[in-house]
Amino acid sequence: MSALSELCQDIVICQKCEALTKNRTRVVPGDGLEDADLMFIGEAPGRYEDQQGIPFVGPAGLFLEQLLASINLRREQVYITNVIKCRPPNNRDPLPSEVHNCREWLDRQIEIINPKIVVTLGRYSMAMFFSGKSISKIHGTAQKRGDIIYYAMYHPAAALHQQSLRRVIEEDMLKIPSLLDQAESVLEVKQPPQQLNMFEVKNRD
Ligand code: URA
Repeated sequence: MSALSELCQDIVICQKCEALTKNRTRVVPGDGLEDADLMFIGEAPGRYEDQQGIPFVGPAGLFLEQLLASINLRREQVYITNVIKCRPPNNRDPLPSEVHNCREWLDRQIEIINPKIVVTLGRYSMAMFFSGKSISKIHGTAQKRGDIIYYAMYHPAAALHQQSLRRVIEEDMLKIPSLLDQAESVLEVKQPPQQLNMFEVKNRD
């Protein structure tokens, strides 16, 4: 069994959060390719994800699949997961304690998959890697830490509620292929973290 499958077996029996354990139908560990170059991290499973045990299978997932298609990718070619792996009751926002409890799972997923780029979808996911930043300011920008580039995007569901964001999200997605091409030459940002505008990506030589 692969390291990721073993990890997912541990995730689906997790009982660290009482309210989530009581409320959930299925745990939603993640879905996709174990050695994906691109990893997408959303917020939390919704109703459809809770029923199926697979992330992004509802309306936001459909839009995410369209966005992937715009860069010639299918969901099977990337890895998709969430900050927390269980649906919060009535789709409320995840609690800080739930994000904290679930962080270990996410960190281990990132370690095993070791993607070139982690794409954060929405505020919760962004906050884990770009602390203190505002999504309206940093969407469409990247930061490299260690070997991984972190790239912030609005959550696809935002486009379903706010039509004006649809175009912004589509444009941010279209920047990913060139970021992927240049991944090796993007310089790591030293502390204090600075924002790295993709169009200012520097070559090492
Ligand atoms: N929204 C998320 O953040 N994740 C899902 O899996 C579905 C909707």
